[in-house]
Amino acid sequence: MEVIVVPAALDVGMAAAGIISRLVAGKPGAVLGLATGASVKRVYAELALAHHDRALDFSRVTAFLLDEYVGLSRSHPASFHAFIEEHFLRRVNADRRRVHLPPTEGDDLPGLCEQFERDIRATGGIDLQLLGIGRDGHLGFNEPTSSLASRTRIKTLTSATREANRSGFGGEEVPLHAVTMGIGTLLEARHCLLVADGSAKADAVARMVEGPLTAMVPASALQMHPHATVIVDEAAAAELSLRDYYREVQRNKPEWQR
Ligand code: GLP
Repeated sequence: MEVIVVPAALDVGMAAAGIISRLVAGKPGAVLGLATGASVKRVYAELALAHHDRALDFSRVTAFLLDEYVGLSRSHPASFHAFIEEHFLRRVNADRRRVHLPPTEGDDLPGLCEQFERDIRATGGIDLQLLGIGRDGHLGFNEPTSSLASRTRIKTLTSATREANRSGFGGEEVPLHAVTMGIGTLLEARHCLLVADGSAKADAVARMVEGPLTAMVPASALQMHPHATVIVDEAAAAELSLRDYYREVQRNKPEWQR
């Protein structure tokens, strides 16, 4: 796992967007896995800048959204669809026909989840999966004790996750269920890029990077991934015992590895 420590949240967004921009510039038909949340907002803001200032072309990019609430209309302001539309899709020249949303309605949701997995495979697989991390170490909506081999499916959210995601729901109840790509699905992406900032994420980041591999910290599954990059600001890196080592690795990174 490559750990990149940068000074502040703004730098996290810039560094992650730089990696995605280079991928899309070199492979205009890239397949991206997209996440939602405060941490990834800045990444999308930087990508929108790259589109406007440097004409970075997203028209051939295929995208799969990581997760979504069950039963919530796609136009609901708190839906992840609304988030990705507002913060990314409408700010770049995305082709909506190439954007795949996890199924959240229908009589046969498990069957539709399997179809979502087939759709990912049919594109040749995800080139880069962008991720945030929950305070409890969840990835997507893979809550603690999620199978590390799980596929796209329905999960029941913990009360802590529902509380953390309350904004946007007003007085309404946060849905109890969500559909999320599984840990097994995420591990098949060719590159996993996780971003985190702020002291509230420091414990989860340390357990993901340096703790034991365990379903209690779903993000620790990234230790098994052959190409995982974690970009964190100083506050989110505060509990990493090897953070000086990670800095040294970055300072001495050979040119061919950049
Ligand atoms: C939600 C999403 C996750 C995201 C997490 C952290 O639970 N399902 O994909 O990583 O929130 O979000 P934030 O960046 O807002 O802290």
